[in-house]
Parts: sequence; C-alpha cells; structure tokens
Amino acid sequence: MVIHKAVIPAAGLGTRFLPATKSTPKEMLPIVDKPAIQYVVEEAVAAGLNDVLMITGRSKRTLADHFDAAPELEATLEAKGDLARLELVRASTDLADVHYVRQGQPKGLGHAVLCAKHHIGNEAFAVLLGDDLIDARDPLLPDMLKLQERTGGSVIALLEVEPDQINPYGCAAAVPLEGGGLDEVRITGLVEKPDAADAPSNLAIIGRYVLNPAVFGVLETTGPGRGGEIQLTDALATLAGMPAEQGGGVYGVVFRGRRYDTGDRLDYLKAVVRIAADRPDLGPDFRNWLAEFVPSLHT
Ligand code: UTP
Repeated sequence: MVIHKAVIPAAGLGTRFLPATKSTPKEMLPIVDKPAIQYVVEEAVAAGLNDVLMITGRSKRTLADHFDAAPELEATLEAKGDLARLELVRASTDLADVHYVRQGQPKGLGHAVLCAKHHIGNEAFAVLLGDDLIDARDPLLPDMLKLQERTGGSVIALLEVEPDQINPYGCAAAVPLEGGGLDEVRITGLVEKPDAADAPSNLAIIGRYVLNPAVFGVLETTGPGRGGEIQLTDALATLAGMPAEQGGGVYGVVFRGRRYDTGDRLDYLKAVVRIAADRPDLGPDFRNWLAEFVPSLHT
C-alpha cells in the first residue's frame, strides 16, 4: 500500500526559543519569509504525502490560519493587482489536505504521535518534526519510504555527529543492513539523549520517521521515560526487538545532506542565512552584504 499520510507534531512548548514562542508556536517562526512549518509540509507533499495531520497544542490558531484561505487579504491583493503576492498567499492554502488534532498536554513526542492513531488507522505513515528542516535540495523521505516498503518495518533518519555532540539527540546502535545500500542500517538498540560516555554510537536520530502502525500499540504501553515524557525513541527501541509478523523491525537511513534544527537559536540563524544567501531574489544583495560584514568580524 502506498504511503500517503504524514503526521507533523507541533505541540511542544519551544522553551529554547522563549520569549518568541510564548504565544507563537516555534514552527511558525519565519525562515526568511516563510514559516518553518510550510517548508516541512512542502517536503511531505514533494514525497507524495498529501494527507497531513498536524498535532497542535496551545496557539493552534496561527498554524491553522496559515494553511487556510485568507479572503480579506486575498481580495485586497487582487484589487491592487498584486498577483505575485496573491499567489504566495494561496500557495499554502492549496498545498495539502491538512487536518488538526490537539495534544492537550505536551506529554512528549511519543504521546503526540499516539494522538494520530485514529486518523492513521492501520497503515504505515510518515512523521516529520515541525522544527526540523531538511533542505529541499537533499531529499531524504523518498529513500526512507522505499526502505519501509522493502522491509515492512519502521525507518528512522540518522545523522553522524561528533561523538561529544550526541547528548541532545536520540542515539542508535546499528549494524549494516544485509543486502542494503551504503547508507542503510538495521537498528539493534536506541537510547534517548545519552551522555557521550554511554552512547552506543555517533548516530543521532533526526526528525523524520516512517512508521509501521504497530507503533501505536507499543506507545499505549510505553511509560514516561527521559524527562518524564513519553518518548518515541523508547517505543522504537521496543519495536526494534519485535518480530516482523507483529510489525517489528527498525531500520535507518544515514542522511548526508543539509538539515537545520529550527527550534535551536543558533541552528535557526544558520538556516536563515544559508537559505537567504541561496535565494535568487534576495541572495545576490545579501551575499554582497555578507562579504563586507564577515571580514569586519575579525578586525
Ligand atoms: P522538542 O523536544 O524539540 O520540542 O520536540 P519542545 O519541547 O517544543 O522544545 P524545547 O526543548 O522546549 O525548546 C520535538 C518535536 O516534537 C514536538 C515538538 O513540537 C517538536 O516538533 N512535540 C514535543 C510535541 O508535539 N508534543 C510534545 O509533547 C513534545
């Protein structure tokens, strides 16, 4: 069965980005002139996932409004004949079939994914974290979808980090996948945010998953883990040890492209600078300015 549903958890508190995220979800922060979440929905649609379920919490309105029609704004732009901006406004409305469910309390990423159970039913689906931005020029999801189709299990995305940088991430113990490609692995164990000394590898879990629906049954019996939150990583560790007939087996794709954690202030700034510098409209002027500004930092 072809996977066509994506879940985007966007109900976290975003405490690393306060006070900006006091009343605005971090997923709505602009990367140049487009909210981070729109890049994520565009990535899902580009991979054939047109049915998008957003897990929202407080301040759901701004997220839902962004993917809804804006009749007054559209009428004003139309009256002015500003067709280019009208097209930009309508692009997010027409992008995908977007649904919403509220998480109630932010009890963790695993709990957020469990909120999607009724919408997803008994089919495999993708999860894209709303604050994790994969550069559109380095597509990752298509490889993950293919690996899920081949194995029938669940697939996670992995990034090689410096060993002392593993602590903010979930970490995977992995072996090469028999008969698999160079960047494909089989997961033998997972641990959430380990200290560098206890980490089983330097493979960090990043915010893209393609999951077998067996994950819901596992999440229902997964208690609070690290930080008192229901962790998706803990449920995946259980799935990795389950037989294939029960929907078990977890695999990984090692990602080597450009990726930004837009919920982290420094990574957010890097994303804005890189994407602005590459934009055909703003890039030339911005790069000229950067070329003057950067040397002045060293004087
Ligand atoms: P993070 O741990 O990065 O999100 O969760 P956070 O808690 O919002 O961030 P900080 O650390 O306080 O700044 C990863 C993803 O999971 C979602 C977040 O919205 C983010 O996309 N999430 C997390 C939920 O949807 N619900 C939760 O209960 C927790």
